[in-house]
Amino acid sequence: MKYHIETWGCQMNDHDGEKLSGLLSAEGYELAASSAEADLVLLNTCSIREKAVHKVYSELGRLRQEKLRRPLLVGVTGCLAQQEQAALFKRAPHIDFVLGTMALQQLPRLVAEARAGKARVMDTGEYPDNHLFPPAVTRRRELAKALVTITEGCDHACTYCIVPTTRGPERHRPFADVLAEVRGLAAAGTREVELLGQNVNSYAGGCSFAELLERVSEIEGIEWIRFTTSHPMNFNRELAQVLVTNPKVAPFLHLPLQSGSDRVLRLMRREYTVAEYLERLGYLGAGRGRIALSTDFIVGFPGETDADFEATLRVLDEVAFDGSFSFIYSPRPGTPALRLRDDLPMTVKAERLAALQQRQTALTRASNERFLGREIPVRVEMREPTEHGWWLAHSGEWKTIHLAVGPGRQLPFGELVQARITLASPHFLGAELV
Ligand code: 5AD
Ligand code: SF4
Repeated sequence: MKYHIETWGCQMNDHDGEKLSGLLSAEGYELAASSAEADLVLLNTCSIREKAVHKVYSELGRLRQEKLRRPLLVGVTGCLAQQEQAALFKRAPHIDFVLGTMALQQLPRLVAEARAGKARVMDTGEYPDNHLFPPAVTRRRELAKALVTITEGCDHACTYCIVPTTRGPERHRPFADVLAEVRGLAAAGTREVELLGQNVNSYAGGCSFAELLERVSEIEGIEWIRFTTSHPMNFNRELAQVLVTNPKVAPFLHLPLQSGSDRVLRLMRREYTVAEYLERLGYLGAGRGRIALSTDFIVGFPGETDADFEATLRVLDEVAFDGSFSFIYSPRPGTPALRLRDDLPMTVKAERLAALQQRQTALTRASNERFLGREIPVRVEMREPTEHGWWLAHSGEWKTIHLAVGPGRQLPFGELVQARITLASPHFLGAELV
C-alpha cells in the first residue's frame, strides 16, 4: 500500500503532515512520489481563507475522476476536515474518511476501517493529548530546519478567524518533551529548529516561552531557533530580551498586526491598540535594528473606511516592516465577523491590497539593500544547485539567499556557510561564497 499526502496551509499543518506520514510509515505503508502512484491520498487541508478551501474542493474533484478509473482511498485531514466534519461526505461522497486536527493518532484505525470497506469513516473528536504525539513516529521532510510542536490550539477569539474552531483550545507540550525531541534532532545533525504553535508566546508547558527558548538554546549542536506564530498581547519584555540577547535565537520576529486602525482592531477583537503594539516592539530596545520584523495584514475588513486603511499604511511606513503577508478579508463560517455589515466593493478591497503590497515591496527592497556588501552566515538548503547554478539558503533574518559558488563545488546541506551579499531585489538577496 502506497500513500501520498498533499498539504496546504501553515507550518503547523505542514508538521501535522509529517506526523501523519510517520503514522502510515509505522504501519508499513510506503511513501509514493505522487498521488498518481498512491493507493491512499490524504488531503491535509487548510481553511484559513475561502481560496484555500477552493483548492481542496478542486483537488477532490480531480480525485473523484481518478477513483472512477482505479481503486483509491481518499482521506481528508486538517482544518477543513475539522470545520466541515460529516458535511464533507455530503459535498464529496467519494471521500472515504475524515480525520480531525485533534485526533491525528486515530489515522491507522480510520485507514483500516476504510480498507475493510466501511463507508464514511470519521473521527473529529477532541483528544486532549493530541499534542503529546510520540516524536519517534514523526517522519520529517528533508529540510534544513526541523519543525517542533510546542503548543496546539488558540485561546484568543479574533472575530475573523476559523483557527480556534479548527484547532481547539490551547494545549501545551511539557518542556521536557520539547527538549528531548530537540536533543534527538540535534544528535541526528539538525542545526535549526522552528518551534510551532498557533500562539507560541503564551506557552505554559512548565516554564515561560522565553525560558523555553533559553533552554533549547543550551542544546549542543543547535545553531538557530525560530518560532511561529506570536500574538502581540503575549509578546512580553522577557521574550524581547531573549530575542535580542540570545545569539541562538534567530534575529527574526513575525508579529501579526492585522490593521493600523484602532477601530478595526476592536472589531477584530485583537485585544490591543496600535499604540500598544508599537510599545511592545519598543521592548526590543536598541537591539531592534538587527531583528527583521514581519507581520500580517487583513485589508477590507467589514466596515474598513478609507481613513482606517490610510492608518494601516501609516503604521506600515512607521514600523517599516522588513516583510509582510497581506490578504483580503475572507468571511469564515461560524465566525463572529459574519455578523458585521460588509458593503465595501471587492474592487476597492483589491485596490487597497495592491496599494499595501506595493508599499511593502518598496520597504522590503530597502530592507534588503541594507545587506549589500555585508558578510553573513547563511544556511544551505539544497543538496544540488538549481538549474540556474545558484544554491538556495536562508539568513538568520529569514532572507532568501541565492548563493553563487564556483562550478563543480558542493555545499554542505543544512550547514552554515559565510556569504557576501552582492545583489538586493525585493524577493531575494544574491550572494557569493566568502
Ligand atoms: N480572512 C483573511 N485573512 C485571514 N487571516 C486569518 N483569518 C483570515 C480571514 N478570515 C490571516 C491573518 C493571519 C494570517 C495567518 O491569515 O492575517 O495572521
Ligand atoms: Fe490553515 Fe490556520 Fe489551519 Fe494553519 S491553522 S492549516 S493556516 S486554517
